Amino acid sequence: RTHKITLIPGDGIGPEVSAATVKILEVAGAATGVGFEWHRFAAGAEAFEQTREYIPKALYESIEQNRVALKGPVTTPIGGGFSSINVTLRKKFDLFANFRPVKNLPGLATKYPDIDLVIVRENTEDLYSGLEHEIVPGVVQSLKIITDKGSTRIAQFAFDYARKHGRKKIHAIHKANIMKLSDGLFLRCCRRVGEGFPEVEYQEHIVDNTCMQLVLNPYQYDILLTENLYGDILSDLCSAFVGGLGLVPGANLGHECSIFEAVHGSAPDIAGKDMANPTALVQSAVLMLHHINERATAELVQTAIEQVYREGKTLTRDVGGQSGTKEFADAVLEAMASP
Ligand code: NAI
Ligand code: MG
Repeated sequence: RTHKITLIPGDGIGPEVSAATVKILEVAGAATGVGFEWHRFAAGAEAFEQTREYIPKALYESIEQNRVALKGPVTTPIGGGFSSINVTLRKKFDLFANFRPVKNLPGLATKYPDIDLVIVRENTEDLYSGLEHEIVPGVVQSLKIITDKGSTRIAQFAFDYARKHGRKKIHAIHKANIMKLSDGLFLRCCRRVGEGFPEVEYQEHIVDNTCMQLVLNPYQYDILLTENLYGDILSDLCSAFVGGLGLVPGANLGHECSIFEAVHGSAPDIAGKDMANPTALVQSAVLMLHHINERATAELVQTAIEQVYREGKTLTRDVGGQSGTKEFADAVLEAMASP
């Protein structure tokens, strides 16, 4: 079998972590009888230089056809410039569910062992509407959009996931004490959906308290069900439980297509230095392999990653090691060859 996959290497550390990931997938695929045809595209500033488009038309078409993409991080300019490529792609393909499992890797000592929680983040609405304007000089308005449809389908996704995977508890995260209408609507939708899942415990926590509760005792949480902004922020917070942004994978899921990418950004502070940890993107690729039903390939990659962490000899600097991106990737290849 050969899978056609749209590949967006991204910028900053994107090309480095993507190259490592593709190499690992190629070898794992060869060992399990799975081939990949990578359809590679630039996006963002780099694409604009080549095509005068931030997201080239051919990239849209490729995702439409292949329905699966693997994506590295793309830099978004602060203040002016173009609007986020990530947000644009998520909206364009209606990738409404951002799924981010946060789980410890074996052998990697962190302040919080045995973390196993999932963030389910609404991915198309909220303050990421991009609707901002200046009312008069010195006064601007950013619109937070929350809909019944958007909230209901993300809640449905979270509860379905809980049922399918035997998860016990869902916390809807909100600030409905202040944003009574928008977050109030979000909560009403979560509650309504939750009624159909009596076996899943449902609770509501206010987002600021959630930050404290997470640091005090993350074990009280199982699935965090959030709007777009709270999920963005809580994802970075939760990544620290398991060793940081270099580890946590993600999936942007829609009904038509899906884009798999890490939680982290383009990390300009370490870009081009062979320092980035490719684990987060590799684990995103593992989610992708499960999505396309290549279970054996997914397990081969995941087992090899875990073996490298268990041995702990070739880890990147963000998790206390001394190795570079390439050396880490080579260790994963070796682990696949001799488990
Ligand atoms: P960032 O996630 O790029 O970096 C935050 C910190 O984590 C930095 O110290 C970085 O070195 C470290 N880090 C991140 N990934 C790492 C990895 N794989 N290995 C080792 N260390 C890693 O966040 P930042 O600096 O706020 O954003 C940089 C750019 O990335 C911005 O332009 C932002 O808009 C963009 N971004 C893109 C995303 C995407 O494409 N999905 C997601 C998040 C941010
Ligand atoms: Mg983020």
